[in-house]
Amino acid sequence: MSKSGTMPGMFEFQIQARDGRARVAQFHTPRGAVTTPMFMPVGTQGTVKGISPQELLDIGSQMILGNTYHLMLRPGEALVQAHGGLPGFTAYPGPFLTDSGGFQVMSLGHMRKITEEGVTFKSHIDGSAVQLTPERSVAVQEALGADIIMAFDECPPYPAERDYIQRSLERTERWLARCLKAKTRPEQALFAIVQGGVHQDLREQSLELTLPYDTPGFALGGLAVGEPKEEMYPAVAFTADRLPAHKPRYLMGVGHPEDLVAGIALGVDMFDCVYPTRTGRFGYALTDDGRLNLNASAPRQQLMPLDSECDCYACRQYTRAYLAHLVRAEEMLGPRMLSLHNLRYLHRLVERARVAIEAGEFHSWATGWAERYFKGQI
Ligand code: GUN
Ligand code: ZN
Repeated sequence: MSKSGTMPGMFEFQIQARDGRARVAQFHTPRGAVTTPMFMPVGTQGTVKGISPQELLDIGSQMILGNTYHLMLRPGEALVQAHGGLPGFTAYPGPFLTDSGGFQVMSLGHMRKITEEGVTFKSHIDGSAVQLTPERSVAVQEALGADIIMAFDECPPYPAERDYIQRSLERTERWLARCLKAKTRPEQALFAIVQGGVHQDLREQSLELTLPYDTPGFALGGLAVGEPKEEMYPAVAFTADRLPAHKPRYLMGVGHPEDLVAGIALGVDMFDCVYPTRTGRFGYALTDDGRLNLNASAPRQQLMPLDSECDCYACRQYTRAYLAHLVRAEEMLGPRMLSLHNLRYLHRLVERARVAIEAGEFHSWATGWAERYFKGQI
């Protein structure tokens, strides 16, 4: 076994095509192979809100994200483990990735206290005191049984003091060492997370501390936390350029369609975000001409699909007028269909990026896509 505690051969990142910094690759997990670049739908509570496992398979989802923080508080990891882990519990048969909980504690936990040992916080569900440490995060993630588990890290908010970002990236490295020591299941891959905010020198330090662990993949953390895109993109470029070419790169919590296209251009392979499902629940549909607002008056009379280029169930079956009616009437099929379409839109976006990379036409495809997308924005 390698020093990252993973079965040899598994998770090996096979690059199939490159175009500039963008690449198409494949890697194997115990629950099947995945092709990158890929977008991972978020199933925080063990469900991608409103979408069934069969629908996820039908729209081309490859890997689903679950959350340590939420599932350990409710229903508790033991119940998930009693079902044989997330695939048994959720009935989604494919690969899973779980986030470690550190990020969610920071955004959701009350009265949290961070020490070298870990994070103590009050549960947002019943107010009880809970402790999350690197060891506990790994134990929970082993019980949840995902294929990829994430290191327990500290993600500073934006903006944050430089000093604090510096101390947290150093602590993140010590927590990474503890996570790897606590890890017992060779069929799971643990990805390290690079921090350092938007500061180039701090990200450099985090990289220097993190790269020697040689984990099967690396995440770019601490981004998409409210900083302007002009600060995020250079930080992504700088970090991605220094990560090993033959390992997957995962940009956590991203994103919007334009961030996926920009991230792929900068050499990122994996993305996750609640955006497609959340914006769908609010009545918005993603299209190549920008984001369509089904709460506005125009779509109520439009007898055309949400997106004439989309092959999802909502676009094949329904008119904009019908879906706008569902949104106005607050019928649950509305947000469900918009979420389904938006997920399919992002899966199709990365599929088109892969085709363009394979054809050596990524740059012109991305430029053309962005021109039309931003022209359509209202
Ligand atoms: N999700 C979005 N950003 C982050 C991060 O920096 N760390 C973790 N663990 N999860 C995230
Ligand atoms: Zn659609």
